Amino acid sequence: MNLMEKVYGSGWAAWCRKHSIALQIGTTISCNIAYLADTGHMRKAVTLSMILLGGTTLYCFFSRRRKINARDLIVITGCNSGLGYSLAMHCRAKGAMVLAGVREIPTAANSNAIEALKNKGVIVHQVDIADEQSVRDFRHKVKELLEERQLVLRALVNNAGVMVFGEFEWQTQKLAEYQVNVNLLGTMRVTRELMPILRENHSRIIVISSHCANESLPGISIYGATKAALLAWTTSLRVEVRKYGIEVVSFIPGGFVEESNIMKRQRLHFDEMRQHMSEEAKEFYGHYFTQYVEYFTMPYLTESRDSVKLSNLTIYETFDNALLNVYPSAIYSEDANMKAFASVCIILAICVAASLQDTPHARCDNGPPPNSLIVDGCNSTPCGFYRGTNLTAHWNFNANADTEKLTVSVKVTILGVTMPYPYPHPNACESLTNSKCPLSKGDHATYNLLMPISKNYPSFRMTIEFSLNDENNNSQVCFKVEGQVTDP
Ligand SMILES: NC(=O)c1ccc[n+]([C@@H]2O[C@H](COP(=O)([O-])OP(=O)(O)OC[C@H]3O[C@@H](n4cnc5c(N)ncnc54)[C@H](OP(=O)(O)O)[C@@H]3O)[C@@H](O)[C@H]2O)c1
Repeated sequence: MNLMEKVYGSGWAAWCRKHSIALQIGTTISCNIAYLADTGHMRKAVTLSMILLGGTTLYCFFSRRRKINARDLIVITGCNSGLGYSLAMHCRAKGAMVLAGVREIPTAANSNAIEALKNKGVIVHQVDIADEQSVRDFRHKVKELLEERQLVLRALVNNAGVMVFGEFEWQTQKLAEYQVNVNLLGTMRVTRELMPILRENHSRIIVISSHCANESLPGISIYGATKAALLAWTTSLRVEVRKYGIEVVSFIPGGFVEESNIMKRQRLHFDEMRQHMSEEAKEFYGHYFTQYVEYFTMPYLTESRDSVKLSNLTIYETFDNALLNVYPSAIYSEDANMKAFASVCIILAICVAASLQDTPHARCDNGPPPNSLIVDGCNSTPCGFYRGTNLTAHWNFNANADTEKLTVSVKVTILGVTMPYPYPHPNACESLTNSKCPLSKGDHATYNLLMPISKNYPSFRMTIEFSLNDENNNSQVCFKVEGQVTDP
């Protein structure tokens, strides 16, 4: 069973689940198109169809993925546990050669993860990214592998990272430097060292980031700062190295603290904080610090988890995009891109729907109301009738009798006095779309109004009655709209 099948199942239902967001967007836009077509807005329907078609084509084109093959080498740092371990296993299962960097190769005991990696054919090598010499040795190992096995370095995944929980004031300089040295400087160290190989192989650099890069949380201000700095660094680096054929992407994997070892040293970190806390701070924070420590050292957070593969399968799916998309995005965040895209599309759809909302109108005594009415720019009454402009409106109706001719009749009521308005284009047949005169009973037609509002009209509130009358002077459609003549 492949990853797709594990995440989404198999068959048609699975296909629908996998593309559910795209399907929702497609359905929403299709409904809008159908509505537009039905209400006679053929141009808008055609435009929206073209947008849908163009969008689908672009989406398919830009989300194409490369294939992984056995000659691809993927180098990942920090593979003892958590995300690094999981990605190493995942890439290997996809058929790539994987070089998994681990900070230290444990002796006999406690080496479950390394044994498991090796059993799957992953090559494990020691690298402490905080140590210059260790990183240099790692580069030799990468080079040796590429040459010996005739591989291509497809990607460097900068995953190794550390996190210390605790309020900023408690965190000693040593703890701050520890996080900066691994998360930021360590990542830079490995990348710099491998740069000639990355250039030669046109590889991809994937930097494991975090939501904290954008929205840091209390308690992890320094960790958040290192991730934000990494994000800034990758943004510049991306542009610098693109000309050499290297793509740089950030990958935000979501949260999985309970499946990783990122908090396993938290007890030691709190000891360090306690030892260096001033007497004044001890007195000030007192019980709060004790409770904080109790909470963040609970076994479910700090227990050591070896060879646990992350259970959230969508992480792997998003990672595959970061690794294999032919045209990679700058940032891959589990679900976020599609959510943002879906939100934009849904907002667009709502805007389209809102722009097509019927203008409020009243029925006449002598004719049926329209099926729908849009007075452009008017969703609520009184509509603004702006001097020196044309009032445009469109309404749909079904002929209620066979009709040879149609004439526009407009009546204006001001201060209770109703008078005919000399509409300049009385032949309604000339302004029909969707149908032509003569109309047969039941024919669906759209009438398009273009009514000049003279600069000289006084500023009155008025009711206008529009009616389309047949040759027997029977109204085929009739309604009244409230409006106010005003300056634009
Ligand atoms: N956990 C989450 O919820 C979460 C969320 C977003 C992003 N992330 C990021 O995901 C990445 C992996 O974290 P994780 O949660 O999987 O934590 P993890 O299980 O603790 O894995 C981190 C790995 O980095 C290694 N490492 C630490 N210092 C190193 C050094 N100096 N040199 C080489 N390797 C070193 C660790 O090795 P040792 O165990 O031997 O020290 C470990 O293998 C990190 O960059 C983290 O910031 C995690």
